[in-house]
Amino acid sequence: MLELKGLSKHFGGVKAVDGVDLRVRKGEIVGLIGPNGSGKSTTVNLVCGVYPATAGRIMFEGADITRLAPHKRVRGGLARTFQNIRLFQRLTVWENLWVARNTAGQGEPRRLFGNWVGGQRAARASVEELLEFAGLHSKRDMVTGALAFGEQRRLEFARALAAEPRLLLLDEPAAGMNLEEIGDLRHRIVDLRRRGLAVLLIEHVMELVMGVSDRIAVLNFGRKIAEGSPAEIQAHPDVQAAYLGDAEV
Ligand SMILES: Nc1ncnc2c1ncn2[C@@H]1O[C@H](COP(=O)(O)OP(=O)(O)OP(=O)(O)O)[C@@H](O)[C@H]1O
Ligand SMILES: [Mg+2]
Repeated sequence: MLELKGLSKHFGGVKAVDGVDLRVRKGEIVGLIGPNGSGKSTTVNLVCGVYPATAGRIMFEGADITRLAPHKRVRGGLARTFQNIRLFQRLTVWENLWVARNTAGQGEPRRLFGNWVGGQRAARASVEELLEFAGLHSKRDMVTGALAFGEQRRLEFARALAAEPRLLLLDEPAAGMNLEEIGDLRHRIVDLRRRGLAVLLIEHVMELVMGVSDRIAVLNFGRKIAEGSPAEIQAHPDVQAAYLGDAEV
């Protein structure tokens, strides 16, 4: 579904992402881990088109999207969440989802037509479903800025799904969550796989990423240093060294 080939992003002298190869298959949850500053968010930003790549290619469902505009990537089936929550704080919960649901297909004639002929009702129904998914039904008319932090994270997750993606990129979705919230999040992520979505999960919470991922890739200083099953990654000496800051690696 997603294939990164020799992907690189250099900011001046900083090689934030440096020749990374990575695949995510349909219905697969791939974990992307690594110490702070290892290039995880930059990888997500490259896949979503926030920055142009310095080198390498990004393939999505067989098409080369390396130079495609970000909004076209969203329309094509890619969605993401942000490491730092980015919601419309003054809009209600429902409005945030409604805006996301309606901007995803903007400018696409087929979708516009769909919206005229009863599509509005379908869009409303899908927002209801998302409220349910995020456990935010009772908060639908609350101003987003008044939500608790964990609820905002859930809303951001649901908002990414409003674009009806086939691949979802989650950048530290568990950051700032308590244990119970992380347990809920885990169920939501597994539920996505059941529905056939592919997920690239960036996460520092090891219990979560080790528990849900089919496969894990590890970045260190922008380079992929290991890839394998959660068990293989946990036992990998280079990975342990990278996290412990071993100067030999
Ligand atoms: N826009 C930018 N301009 C310059 N340097 C950047 C930019 N974005 C990221 N970097 C640098 O690129 C490197 C990788 O950053 P990135 O945010 O991708 O790391 P990360 O793995 O997501 O880290 P964290 O776990 O802390 O979120 C860092 O050295 C960072 O300072
Ligand atoms: Mg990051």
